[in-house]
Amino acid sequence: MKQNLTRLLIALLLFSTHAIAHQPTFYGREGMIVAHDQEAVEAGLEILKKGGNAVDAAVAVAYALAVTHPQAGNIGGGGFMLIKMADGRQIAIDYRETAPAKSLRDMYLDENGDVIPYKSVFGGLAVGVPGTVAGMQMALDEYGTLSRKKVMKPAIKLAQKGFKVSYQLSRNLEYLYNVTESFPETRRVFANNGNFSKPGDRFIQADLAKTLKLISKHGNKGFYEGPVAEAVVSTILDFKGIMTLDDLKNYKAMNRTPVLGTYKGYEIMSMPPPSSGGIALIGILNLLEDEGLDTLFWHSSAAIQKIVEAERLVYADRSEWLGDPDFIDVPINEMISKEYAGRRKELNDLSTYHSSESVSPWTASEMDSLKRYFKESEETTHFSVVDKWGNAVSNTYTLNWTFGSRVTVKGYGFLLNDEMDDFSAKPGVPNMFGLVGNIANAIEPNKRMLSSMTPTIVMKEGKVVSVLGSPGGSTIITSVLQLILNTIDYKMPPVLAISSPRFHHQWLPDVVYYEPFGLSQETIQSLENQGYEFEIRSWIGESNAIFYDPIYGGWIGVPDPRRGAHAGGY
Ligand code: DON
Repeated sequence: MKQNLTRLLIALLLFSTHAIAHQPTFYGREGMIVAHDQEAVEAGLEILKKGGNAVDAAVAVAYALAVTHPQAGNIGGGGFMLIKMADGRQIAIDYRETAPAKSLRDMYLDENGDVIPYKSVFGGLAVGVPGTVAGMQMALDEYGTLSRKKVMKPAIKLAQKGFKVSYQLSRNLEYLYNVTESFPETRRVFANNGNFSKPGDRFIQADLAKTLKLISKHGNKGFYEGPVAEAVVSTILDFKGIMTLDDLKNYKAMNRTPVLGTYKGYEIMSMPPPSSGGIALIGILNLLEDEGLDTLFWHSSAAIQKIVEAERLVYADRSEWLGDPDFIDVPINEMISKEYAGRRKELNDLSTYHSSESVSPWTASEMDSLKRYFKESEETTHFSVVDKWGNAVSNTYTLNWTFGSRVTVKGYGFLLNDEMDDFSAKPGVPNMFGLVGNIANAIEPNKRMLSSMTPTIVMKEGKVVSVLGSPGGSTIITSVLQLILNTIDYKMPPVLAISSPRFHHQWLPDVVYYEPFGLSQETIQSLENQGYEFEIRSWIGESNAIFYDPIYGGWIGVPDPRRGAHAGGY
């Protein structure tokens, strides 16, 4: 132990000199935006400088990304916005997509009961009822201060006048062209029928500008009713989907209660169901809190083992217990409790390899016994924004897979999501992210599919310390987890905390995935000897985060370098 502590002190010393090598490029006392594209950052800053608050700016960023980042930014998808208002209010806006009313539990299975590959991923049947427009409207109506017209203006300008295509977007448009032979409208709109934009070209989206203007003028009615809604439905029908005008008209964003946890003196506020993100994040942190990670070397075999074992337990329970809270009874309070973590660890100490086969989700009777205990003792593309008043917004939204279902709404210039794949099409059969699920996340009409999106705000005594989140499907939860461990346990400066290599385990498959250069050969070897399997994979996540710097007395913006994100503060 003593030796470990000495090593830790040396490590901390090294980190503090490292801190000089990890000076943040973006800082500001009045406001900060971190998002995928520079144009979206500028849209948000423009709104902040015009006197808007963080929510106004977040809505401007979301609409701007719908123009500049068609891979994920959207009006045809959905997501989650977590808000911490300076007056103390803590808000979780759920604008997750819903299953169309005509959805059936077995809609992706063949006559033998097997999942038909890609039926829930590409084409009309993959599309959930989009939530983004309703979510932005709810955010603006309830927590914003500026008009919809004002906050949407930068996005409309970007669509109408165009913007300079980045290297990354150009490569993605080329990819989109190559995979959309059967989606001619998508090829026309986003790839100019094969003559797609090269880096530095100006990309103009006249159809999208028209759609955004309709939303700007009429709000929800401009999207969920009238010509846009009619075009959405007829396009989806052309691609063998089942969405109706009523599905769109009936869509509602929801105000949920954020899940709250604590970790080593910090308050963790995150997204409740229908995202699994907050519960899983807090569950893993609870399991790790008294495991002495801060005395173990970062990415040492002992540290990796404890984190992987904690992830294994929580992802197992995720598969059984989590789904849309309007359809099933999710034991939120139990799962984020320290008692639950303690009981889970009674049978699974985190310093030993447990095969995933030997780790099952908790049974109903185990969960019941915890519920009784609670009754006896009386007692849920990422961008981050802060403003000068101390309001903070953490927003993750998506089309699901890159460019979603690949279906573009005819004449209106936007892609539709393929979020239906986040349901469990069949119990025990993995989806695109390898995640398995059960009845809790089975398909039902109007139900929201389970998500992993984890917009998170970390606080100390109620004051915002960091605004975190990431894309990356099932790896979102563990990416956010590692940011928290890197900053709280390992005291890394923010830039290093974001750029340090990541790893991921999700119960099934029983494999530890790691980024290039993420783990040493010795660490891998020592854990392989105990039964673990490892697989190198590409970059994990894009954690566009904001941190409070107490010495500077302001905000540090850290765009994740993995996918070339941007930031701006003032
Ligand atoms: O809601 C979810 O968990 C997924 N639809 C998120 C998709 C995602 O992060 C794709 N990004 N790489």
